[in-house]
Amino acid sequence: MLRMKSKKLYIETYGCQMNFSDSEIVVSVMQGRDYQITRDAREADVIFINTCSIRDNAEQRVWKRLRELKAHKKHNPGLRIGVLGCMAERLKMRLLEEEHAVDLIAGPDAYRSLPELLSAAASGQKGANVLLSEEETYAEISPVKYNSNGVSAFISIMRGCENFCSYCVVPFTRGKERSRDPETIVEEAAALFRKGYREITLLGQNVNSYHWAQEDGPVRFPELIERVALVDSALRVRFATSHPRDVSDELLQAIARNHNLCKAIHLPVQSGSPAMLKLMNRKYDPEWYMNRIRAIREHIPDCAISTDIITGFCNETEEDHGATLSIMDRVGYDHAFMFKYSERPGTLAARHFNDNVPEKVKSQRLQEIIAKQRELSLKSNQKDVGKVFEVLVESFSRKSKAHLSGRNSQNKVIVFPKKGYKPGDYVEVKITGCTPATLLGEPLEAD
Ligand code: 5AD
Ligand code: SF4
Repeated sequence: MLRMKSKKLYIETYGCQMNFSDSEIVVSVMQGRDYQITRDAREADVIFINTCSIRDNAEQRVWKRLRELKAHKKHNPGLRIGVLGCMAERLKMRLLEEEHAVDLIAGPDAYRSLPELLSAAASGQKGANVLLSEEETYAEISPVKYNSNGVSAFISIMRGCENFCSYCVVPFTRGKERSRDPETIVEEAAALFRKGYREITLLGQNVNSYHWAQEDGPVRFPELIERVALVDSALRVRFATSHPRDVSDELLQAIARNHNLCKAIHLPVQSGSPAMLKLMNRKYDPEWYMNRIRAIREHIPDCAISTDIITGFCNETEEDHGATLSIMDRVGYDHAFMFKYSERPGTLAARHFNDNVPEKVKSQRLQEIIAKQRELSLKSNQKDVGKVFEVLVESFSRKSKAHLSGRNSQNKVIVFPKKGYKPGDYVEVKITGCTPATLLGEPLEAD
């Protein structure tokens, strides 16, 4: 019997960890229909671009890539191009109208329909599914780790966001919050551990809102994370992202009592100014946020704290900006992601406020914030010199094959001489030096 040659799929992902995790679901759906993943776009029959809308520059990168692919398609008329994810959801049919090389679009809840959309595209129709769902969690689809280091993996535990921070497009692109059955999450973690993975990150736009209703009372995030920690004490568990409003003492206690629940919390502050936080609809003020920081320090003294900061939001004054620099000092962040405000059409801020901080001022403030964080990261790393950490090895160091790179529980990158170790090993490493971004060390004993 003649067997049809399988087709080749190339997928490119922009944006957050959640999007990378979604691409693994997409690959699983497509493999079920006899598509094989390729790392070479030139040999692909189908190219999917999984997109991000969080800031305008994220979208501009995708438009640029689509123009490149249009040229590629001219020489390769059988090629099908699909745009997936947040941009597909935000722009809907406009995307198909404005970019003629695109054959199909699929929003974040429409990945099961990709094979049908492709069949439609094959017969010359443009396919679109941008329906958002109140139930879809892809719970039973086993993600394909097509781009993995074999050590760390993501597990998506909930989807959507209903916080409606005034600047943010996510509630519009990813829809209502819904949580995934805890049994399927624990099973996925156990299966990954059996395959050799040693670290998983539980993902959601707002993981602390995790809520699974069942007869004997709901499962909430602290309980879920402890169940996952019980899979094996050699499996490290992380999570992202938390809203400061939802970081309960119960969660902090769970992290404190489980060695393998990592001592690192990402707690986006966005701004240190009460006026900005109000305008952003963050539902806390700086004092409330600092109170959560104190709770973290009290329950988990060795916890690393990282954050996200937006600079140049509507009406932001020099004084507001000063308050952000000041809260950075007060917390002493170990790491931060820092952004200029980018107005997103349809959001509360775009409809009601004025994007009135000049671009030059935004850039200046961003530079000041980046410089401040560099100082804080260096200080935090210098404090670690002389300490010994358990490092989970992830890969070879980027700079040298004689060195390995891994992370400690605090999520800091540690580079050390390879000796007899390999990815997936836990190694006790003594820190001997640092840069603002990396700790350098020596293994306590070689094999
Ligand atoms: N402009 C700039 N940064 C933004 N973020 C979210 N929306 C915007 C926007 N419109 C940042 C926030 C969030 C992170 C994922 O991206 O800091 O925590
Ligand atoms: Fe980008 Fe947000 Fe969508 Fe992730 S959820 S891809 S960060 S817009």
